[in-house]
Amino acid sequence: MTTVSTDEPALTTDRTDWPHRHLVGIEPLSAGEIRVLLGKAQGYEGVSTSRALPKNADLHGKVVVNLFYEDSTRTRASFRLAASRLSADVLDMSASGSSVSKGETLVDTAKNIEAMGVDIIVCRHSQSGTAIQLAEATDCAIVNAGDGQHEHPTQALLDAFTIAKRLGRDDTFDFSGLTVAIVGDIGHSRVARSNLHCLTKLGARVVLVGPPTLVPGALAGVECAVSHDLDAVLPEVDVVNMLRVQFERLSGPAFPSQREYTTLYGLTAARMKQAKEGIVVMHPGPMNRGLEIESAVADGPSSVILDQVANGLAVRMATLALVGGA
Ligand code: NCD
Repeated sequence: MTTVSTDEPALTTDRTDWPHRHLVGIEPLSAGEIRVLLGKAQGYEGVSTSRALPKNADLHGKVVVNLFYEDSTRTRASFRLAASRLSADVLDMSASGSSVSKGETLVDTAKNIEAMGVDIIVCRHSQSGTAIQLAEATDCAIVNAGDGQHEHPTQALLDAFTIAKRLGRDDTFDFSGLTVAIVGDIGHSRVARSNLHCLTKLGARVVLVGPPTLVPGALAGVECAVSHDLDAVLPEVDVVNMLRVQFERLSGPAFPSQREYTTLYGLTAARMKQAKEGIVVMHPGPMNRGLEIESAVADGPSSVILDQVANGLAVRMATLALVGGA
């Protein structure tokens, strides 16, 4: 396991504890910095969830652009709402309907956006490394909303926030003693990669589970266990994070049939009988209901899937505030 120092100051939101101009991934963050961000998200919780509370003015006068080159429901809406709850001006842009469809490069598009006085660009792209490329090419603060198969840092942060709240770790955000299984299409998943970094930095043990064709032997150079047997792993874990099979990223069939995939790796009500009491069931969405997760489980009492979505707002507010200098 990665060694995590537990004597770092937790939950301080002092700006000197957040030295980063961008959020391109979880890998460059320390455990202490992750805890700073999660602590700041806690402070925004009331504003993010209660319509009765007035907007917060932390990003008043700042301009945020959502630049999405890939489809998105939750992430795009969540960043938009988060920016608007912080009183920023927000502009939504997508590849279709912009000059990208006329062949403009990502960097040219970003430089043109920057020329209009934009402070923060939130970018999603099918190519790994695009967030880092933008961070190098412009003076805007860059937030990675998912770059290819590389990282999806705010998803990992909202997942950690959700685990902490559900399992009573939200006073320290220390996950020592917890075991988390990430199940499914690990190889193509930026969510898996960011979660692996985030969870191990916070002290959890991670087991990657799935068919050999979808689970690389090693991931991101981080120490973790790998298993191809969900039934053996399920009774041992506190949290199970089910990933979507990303058919759009598969170059050929990765398993014999969808039925066989569900038989071996689907989280069904029958399989849940072997799970630890109090197990937390997660999924980043969008779900392939009936394939990697059965509806009875997705909508059942162990599921925190909609809590993940709700918590995403506070986490993205904290992200935008920190990179925006608030
Ligand atoms: C994920 C993504 O786009 O990486 N979804 C999300 O952001 N909530 C996972 C997926 O597409 O399967």
